[in-house]
Amino acid sequence: MKISGTGSVLPSKVVTNDMLSQFLDTSDEWITTRTGVKSRHVISDERLEDMAIEAARKALEDAGLRAEELDFIICSNVVNEYVTPQLSCIIQGGIGASCPCIDINCACAGFIHALEMAESFYKAGRVKNVLVVCAEEPTRMTDWNDRRTCVLFGDGAGAAVLTPGDNIKSIKLSASSSTDKLWQYRLLHPTPYVTKEEVDVPLQMKGQDVFKFAVKAASKDITRTLKETGLQADDVDHYLLHQANIRIINAIQDYLEQPAEKFPTNIEDHGNSSSSCCPILLDECSRNGLLKRGDIIAMSAFGAGFVSGAVLFEW
Ligand SMILES: CC(C)(COP(=O)(O)OP(=O)(O)OC[C@H]1O[C@@H](n2cnc3c(N)ncnc32)[C@H](O)[C@@H]1OP(=O)(O)O)[C@@H](O)C(=O)NCCC(=O)NCCS
Repeated sequence: MKISGTGSVLPSKVVTNDMLSQFLDTSDEWITTRTGVKSRHVISDERLEDMAIEAARKALEDAGLRAEELDFIICSNVVNEYVTPQLSCIIQGGIGASCPCIDINCACAGFIHALEMAESFYKAGRVKNVLVVCAEEPTRMTDWNDRRTCVLFGDGAGAAVLTPGDNIKSIKLSASSSTDKLWQYRLLHPTPYVTKEEVDVPLQMKGQDVFKFAVKAASKDITRTLKETGLQADDVDHYLLHQANIRIINAIQDYLEQPAEKFPTNIEDHGNSSSSCCPILLDECSRNGLLKRGDIIAMSAFGAGFVSGAVLFEW
């Protein structure tokens, strides 16, 4: 398969570090130096499903494809206002498609997991055109009084349209269960039969553990994709990495011994929008003319689970 079109949508509300420091014991200086984030787009009056539909429409337009021509939709999402129906079904109706669809929750690594699923559909000869949409609102998961988490995140939706081709060179996924490092509980409705104690806990994170996992997993995943294809790190034109922390990106860059110009970022004014990060960054790089036909791109992401993945593809 190949990526034939991309699209993205951000919420209109921009929250700067200075705005956060008005109600949190934090500062622009701390957030900028420790994370690289200066501001983030935060959901206010928008609905995530509308953003997802809009991102999908843009990707279809970019690919020159009609919604009716889609054979499958995969939506990556951790949290949205609906428990059911699945977000992919809402997107399907919103864009006027009629194909089957499925939601996946692979946290921040959702885009790469979706590409892996789609690639196996292509290899089985079961699809021609596939839409992947990542739509995330992690700012609705954090406690906005917790300076250790809420400063990191932003919201957004990114989409990619896949069509037949042989541009995917390698995809590697990994999972290593570590459920006490990055997690959230949500309260379900009570029943007459539930007697265990239940709690509603916003996103909890052991930042340094996540940081170490992220650097190790991403470096390993990218190296595995290079090894499989026989390519060297120097052969990659662009490294599009999950935008969780600029220091994580810098550490991966150091490991790969590659120049900073190969690592475009948008963390400065987006923050971490979970699985949406990768397709939003891809869309922005595509639309601002950074990507040239034939360029080799390595993309990598990691997230709660822990899970991670990398994909090496030709643009
Ligand atoms: C969260 C993260 C930025 C914290 O940076 P860090 O350098 O590890 O900082 P620490 O957690 O050691 O905290 C250092 C100090 O800064 C404080 N601090 C934390 N957040 C702060 C904030 N927003 N403003 C000011 N101070 C803050 C801490 O309370 C701590 O103070 P103390 O030493 O008095 O206890 C970093 O660990 C990280 O990015 N981890 C990965 C997160 C991630 O990628 N998550 C998503 C995965 S998909």
